[in-house]
Amino acid sequence: MGASVGRRFRFLVAVAAAALLLTATAADAKAQCVPGAPGVGDGDYPTYGNGGYDVRHYNLDVEYDPATDRLDGEASIKATATQTLCSFNLDLVGLEVTRVKVNGRRASWTRSGQELTVTPMRPLKEGRRFKVKIVYGGVPREFILPGTDIRTGFMATPDGANVLGQPEVAAGWYPVNDHPIDKASYSFDVSVPDGYEVVANGILRDRDRHAGWTTWEWEAREPMASYLATIAIGYWDVHRWRTDSGIPVYDAVDSAITGALRAEIDSSLARQGEILDLLIDAFGPYPFSTVGAIVDNQDDLFFALETQTRPVYSRGFWLDGEGNPVNGDSVVVHELAHQWFGDDVALARWQDIWLNEGFATYAEWLWEEYEGRGTPQQTFQASYDEIPADDPFWAVVIGDPGVDLLFDDAVYVRGAMTLHALRNAVGDESFWATVRGWAATKSGGNATTEEFIAYAEEVSGQRLDELFDTWLYTPRKPAPSAVSPAGRAKLRTARARARAKTRLGQLQRRLAVGRY
Ligand code: TRP
Ligand code: ZN
Repeated sequence: MGASVGRRFRFLVAVAAAALLLTATAADAKAQCVPGAPGVGDGDYPTYGNGGYDVRHYNLDVEYDPATDRLDGEASIKATATQTLCSFNLDLVGLEVTRVKVNGRRASWTRSGQELTVTPMRPLKEGRRFKVKIVYGGVPREFILPGTDIRTGFMATPDGANVLGQPEVAAGWYPVNDHPIDKASYSFDVSVPDGYEVVANGILRDRDRHAGWTTWEWEAREPMASYLATIAIGYWDVHRWRTDSGIPVYDAVDSAITGALRAEIDSSLARQGEILDLLIDAFGPYPFSTVGAIVDNQDDLFFALETQTRPVYSRGFWLDGEGNPVNGDSVVVHELAHQWFGDDVALARWQDIWLNEGFATYAEWLWEEYEGRGTPQQTFQASYDEIPADDPFWAVVIGDPGVDLLFDDAVYVRGAMTLHALRNAVGDESFWATVRGWAATKSGGNATTEEFIAYAEEVSGQRLDELFDTWLYTPRKPAPSAVSPAGRAKLRTARARARAKTRLGQLQRRLAVGRY
């Protein structure tokens, strides 16, 4: 649990426990269990995730038939109770549940909206591990992106399925504690009719043929946020290779993508090793044991997503407005940068999305520099100069954009600008120490903006609240003095001079009273 969400929770737990104590007698101490909360306390998405337990592992044994679009699954979940629970919730949207077991015994359940409430035969004691098995099925739910008619989630395609969405996707195809705060490892046993091929996060362990179906066994050992789990079903050209630095790669490109478009995609994917080397230089060691890409031929997919170890890309990133093939390297840079920021260091609450998108966009600026197309300072200045002060872009409070603006352009670009403003304020050495140290200390976990600010202050020894207030929480275009390194340098010298003056003054005063 991340600090802020966890603390809020413990408070709720304490209140609930106190309330129970008032009504319970000593004799029914056993009955002192509470229902797990139906959300983790995310300000933007109150019903996302659930309280009272912590998932360690999901095994998703699913069968998908592209002919009917039907998914039948058995989800086995290993978790630990963080309160003594009479019942607990999972998130699941749409699909029908036919059986639930907890620790091998039948459990009862109810459904309401995305909440699946499970009541085991006996309460689950705080601190104890437990297992849940859920048999479920149906046509998986898609999600429509707010303010558009674009579909995301578990999407049927003409030759299989693609699974990507943010924040909504996981609950559309498996029962889950659907919030990034509860990371878990995953194993996927995905059965498809012979001929179809399955790609997922992590490593392909095995393939098993039986009676016209093939089960693809994928394993993602490194703890992962729920929205980063993906399976892709189709006909793939698979390319397995290693980067020069030794990272195993598993790329899957839809075999229906051919010609000049295919050449552009292949050329970007071939540069993944080079891109990772640049990012390793900037951010520190690559956090996972495998990497690679999924590029489907889906024509109504307009996104890429940083699905852990194996981002999914719309082919559209390699097409210009007229539909001509173009270079798409920068999207690969963006999604690979998310492996550090977004995936390995995940959000504790969705409002801090700039921590993901700002870093991923900044990585694109580093790539621009690497490719000789201008320094981050130039890219920063160009964005700053280009967008007039009355543009709605500057009105977005990227430190808390709200659900409708969660993925607004400003979150990406002003997010990267914020990082660059930090770099200008603290200098290169301190900036890179902050970035690398942050990635290292938060590796495998979750983080908040407040923690990032505190960390940057600690590393630089500077007070940075004003800088972050200006860039993250003020719905206006920051003043030029807040952006130009020259302006900042001047400010720094002026401040240093003022400090020196007072030091000199103190010294002189001391001298005057004859202490030296
Ligand atoms: N995080 C994705 C990126 O920056 C973008 C994204 C936002 C997305 N919402 C999504 C992708 C929904 C797929 C579905 O690359
Ligand atoms: Zn992104």
